[in-house]
Amino acid sequence: MKDVRTGSEGQCQRKRVFIRTYGCQMNVYDSDRMADVLRPLGYALADTPEQADLVVLNTCHIREHASEKVYSELGRLRDTKAERRAEGRDLTIAVAGCVAQAEGEEIVKRQPAVDIVVGPQAYHRLPELLAEAERKSSILRAGKRLPGAGVLDTEFPAESKFDHLPSPQGVRAGSAFLSIQEGCDKFCTFCVVPYTRGVEYSRPVSAVLAEAKQLVTAGAIELTLLGQNVNAYHGEAADGSTWSLARLIRELAEIEGVARLRYTTSHPRDMDDDLIRAHGEVPQLMPYLHLPVQSGSDRILEAMNRRHGRDLFLDIVDRLRSARPDLALSSDFIVGFPGESDADFDDTMHLIDQVGFTSAFSFKYSRRPGTPGAALPDQVPESVKAARLAALQALLGRQAREFNVSKAGTTVPVLFAETGRKPGQIIGKTPWLQSVYAEGNSRLIGRIVDVRLTEGHANSLAGEIVTGSYEVAA
Ligand code: SAH
Ligand code: SF4
Ligand code: F3S
Repeated sequence: MKDVRTGSEGQCQRKRVFIRTYGCQMNVYDSDRMADVLRPLGYALADTPEQADLVVLNTCHIREHASEKVYSELGRLRDTKAERRAEGRDLTIAVAGCVAQAEGEEIVKRQPAVDIVVGPQAYHRLPELLAEAERKSSILRAGKRLPGAGVLDTEFPAESKFDHLPSPQGVRAGSAFLSIQEGCDKFCTFCVVPYTRGVEYSRPVSAVLAEAKQLVTAGAIELTLLGQNVNAYHGEAADGSTWSLARLIRELAEIEGVARLRYTTSHPRDMDDDLIRAHGEVPQLMPYLHLPVQSGSDRILEAMNRRHGRDLFLDIVDRLRSARPDLALSSDFIVGFPGESDADFDDTMHLIDQVGFTSAFSFKYSRRPGTPGAALPDQVPESVKAARLAALQALLGRQAREFNVSKAGTTVPVLFAETGRKPGQIIGKTPWLQSVYAEGNSRLIGRIVDVRLTEGHANSLAGEIVTGSYEVAA
């Protein structure tokens, strides 16, 4: 394989990669890991595609809109590539993520300028794929042809990519994602994830603990455990036993320096008693849970193959709130699933009223090729979906605002994450994942500081830092 680190005079030949991330937090984590794989090959991160020698689109297939965006971006990149080639340079275009996995070769057929298509399970093979793309490209260039190399890897290799990726470097302002589980065996009838991410897989306990310790050493004080079904975690421990997510959380809380733990995304079916108890017993486990319910109608939940009814969800919420009374709940909703009647939609609105969510993601049902939902009769008209979504978002918006307003006047620990647009402003998160804007020194970024919340708004709160609640190192 060609070593791109050294030029002909043995000097460091810096290359630049631009990675654009679509979709969920798993993709954010994966993008960091791709950057980690590319770094030893001499690739530094670029801020724009224009500065880059290699552009990676880490794609999402969850809704039609998400995957179509990729093709318009690829059209723009093809033009950049053509301009570069006219100047005697090149631009390597790679498509990674869930569209890569789902559409594979189709991508190269639709956009021949693509050089590499790599599925989420094959990122550790990027160096080989790049070398092969380079070989093929030089042959194509010699033949004066313009298309990309079209190198493909969408296998689910027997070896785990996690065993072959370098140590993570993705700590941002004291926070880090840690992927502990991938894939899904649940096959909800609307969803592509079981097809794009494959069967459920839990990383071994020792690998997770080792990575957590590395992240803490690198400055993380908040760890967010990730998985498509993170609470289905069942990792093998060194003694051969199987650990649940609750057990893992208790162990992670023992690591010195871990101040905050979160996990996402969970499925109601996997909220076991021990995990519910952990919410009341582990102080580092933040009082916030994203627990997608999708619908409040038993009939629709059944058609979605969610494998639980509305009562089970309400029961889990009650038990969680008994364990942790100040727990903030967030969820995902789909409106307009095939066959959803006005009465079904009312059930969803009623459930939202009953539970009270502090934030939520809500979507119009998107028909995904290859999923059972796509073939169902009684697809709901677009205008009905739009009206239901607007009503649902208005209700959820009111609940979010009420929750924010209810916290005004209290003093809470905030983990500051970034500077705001106004000079001297910094932005952080409360334990309930609300955004807080305060005036403060940017040296507080990455630290937890007490903030007196002064005003609650629709999507955020304003606050004042409580002096004396922190010490700034000299
Ligand atoms: N594993 C999680 C969800 C992962 S996908 C769970 O089981 O809840 C994230 C969200 O995207 C889903 O919760 C759902 O609300 C939404 N989603 C998935 N497929 C969709 C589709 N075909 N149309 C609209 N929204 C969809
Ligand atoms: Fe998709 Fe359902 Fe699996 Fe969640 S549980 S990833 S919605 S199939
Ligand atoms: Fe999208 Fe794949 Fe995540 S489809 S939501 S990027 S698992």
